[in-house]
Amino acid sequence: MSRREFLVGSGATALLTTLPGFVTQAAVAEPQPMRHFSLRPGKASTQLAPGKYPMTPVWAYNQSVPGPQIRLIQGDRVRIAVENALDEETTVHWHGLRVPHAMDGVPHLTQTPIGSNKHFVYEFDVPDAGTYWYHPHQRSAEQVGRGLYGPLIIEEREPITVDRDVTWILDDWRLKSDARISDDFANRHDMSHNGRIGNTVTINGLAPGNFRVRQGERIRLRLINAANARIFALNFQDHQPQIIALDGQPVTPHEPANRTVVLGPAMRVDLVLDLTGDPDTRFTITDTFYSGLEYELIDVVYGPESLRSNALDSPIALPANTLPEPLMAGITRHQIRFNGGMMGQMMMGDGNNMMAMMREGKMWFINGVAASGHVMDPLLTLERDQSYLIELINDTAWHHPIHLHGHSFRVVSRNGKPTPHQEWQDTVLMAPEEQVEITLVADNPGDWMFHCHILEHQAAGMMGIIRVST
Ligand code: C2O
Ligand code: CU
Repeated sequence: MSRREFLVGSGATALLTTLPGFVTQAAVAEPQPMRHFSLRPGKASTQLAPGKYPMTPVWAYNQSVPGPQIRLIQGDRVRIAVENALDEETTVHWHGLRVPHAMDGVPHLTQTPIGSNKHFVYEFDVPDAGTYWYHPHQRSAEQVGRGLYGPLIIEEREPITVDRDVTWILDDWRLKSDARISDDFANRHDMSHNGRIGNTVTINGLAPGNFRVRQGERIRLRLINAANARIFALNFQDHQPQIIALDGQPVTPHEPANRTVVLGPAMRVDLVLDLTGDPDTRFTITDTFYSGLEYELIDVVYGPESLRSNALDSPIALPANTLPEPLMAGITRHQIRFNGGMMGQMMMGDGNNMMAMMREGKMWFINGVAASGHVMDPLLTLERDQSYLIELINDTAWHHPIHLHGHSFRVVSRNGKPTPHQEWQDTVLMAPEEQVEITLVADNPGDWMFHCHILEHQAAGMMGIIRVST
């Protein structure tokens, strides 16, 4: 019996609140509206590069890059019908949403992949507000790399006051001189180094032009990194954005270190940006992540008018989501080690063995194992509703944004030092040789993917499963 049938059939509030998972008091108090969407992944063509270049053939949801915005309100129930118009199998994964296992969109693990001209219906509740996104989990390096992704925004029931709520979904493309996508997906060099770094950055599927603002305006800026591999470090010059959420989850509002907002692949950052400059001025947001390869991302241009002369002083802290708090007393500890790649401890045995592994495309290892598909033995088995602390050790010379499905976790320390905000994340960016401790309550039963979101690293083995017992 599905939960929905249960809701229809029972109406017994006391029973409902004892159901595990995603039933909240709020969801019981008001009937949930069912929201409907449809997604059709298929071939399309779009003006990705600046206007002097031709259109780019892409793969896209509903003919557009990014795909249509799915915008919901916390506590909604949603039904999304997917009709596959690609020539190959696909799935849709709802990145960061704590959905039931069967709705998670992982091929062969949570569902049979959706064949060409076949369809599949996803249906789930959205327990948490925040900024999320969706993308295929089948041959992601190529399917996401050709343009299959879209924003998924869940509004708070009582949002903070802003003048505009803006989403920028960032992507990085490897285009040839005729603006076609270079088809060297998941090649050995990209897989063993820092992934498929491109040569054309887009915001919402367009070459960034000017972003027009007004003096005194307060913008909630939702940043989503949909790139296969590029890490962004956005510098706002003299402006002082406040980070209010990471990976969808509220965080104590704070200024980013060095006024630079860092987003690894798949990560999201919600900012409150007060436009404190003068009318008729402008400034440039730059991306400074790769030293020597800094570039100007977009110009922010003030119009002649003024909305207000002083910034708003209304509160910007977001209400908490519904995540269970890990209990630190007597917490069970585990350790997970990442290695592989060039210039690191590629050796998982002798050199011949290593060459053989590389030929098979296995270049990255989690606890010594390189995944070759989505189905495998779990790295860890966690007991349902128990609290865990997992130490993640990056024994490589590279950055890795490590993502866990089905849960969010607190990032509690880095290299032995407590993090200032104990932030909730679903994707944690680990620097080379960094050690990061995360805590979580394993409350969502199933086998959950745990992988690097540099999609070429994932394809070359950096993926495992964490099992939460039923
Ligand atoms: Cu955004 Cu396993 O994925
Ligand atoms: Cu990686």
